[in-house]
Amino acid sequence: MPKVIYTSPDGRAHTVDARIGASVMETAVKHGIPGIVAECGGALSCATCHVFVATSWIDQTGTAEDFEDEMLDDATTPRQSHSRLSCQIRLTDEFDGLEVTIAPEQ
Ligand code: FES
Repeated sequence: MPKVIYTSPDGRAHTVDARIGASVMETAVKHGIPGIVAECGGALSCATCHVFVATSWIDQTGTAEDFEDEMLDDATTPRQSHSRLSCQIRLTDEFDGLEVTIAPEQ
C-alpha cells in the first residue's frame, strides 16, 4: 500500500496510506486532507485539485498532457513546471513515498 505525503499550503505534512488504483485526489479527499476541493469529482473539468509534485517525483508521475495541460492554465494558483491535477495521477506501488504540495488557492 503506497504512502502519499501531502503538504498543505500552511506547511503541515500529512502522510496517508493510499489504495492502489485510486488517484492522488481521491486519496486526499478520502483522508480529509485540507486544500483539495475537487469540485468535479475527477472529471477533469474544474482544476480544483491542483498540486505541485515534488521535483524528485516528476519522472515517475510524468507531466500533464493535452487537456490537463490546458486546464492547468485556468487554475486559480498559477501553474508551475511541476504542476499536476491530482485526479489525473493514478497510484501504484511504485508511488510509495510520493510527495505533493497542495496549491494554496483552488
Ligand atoms: S477534480 Fe476536477 S479537475 Fe481534478
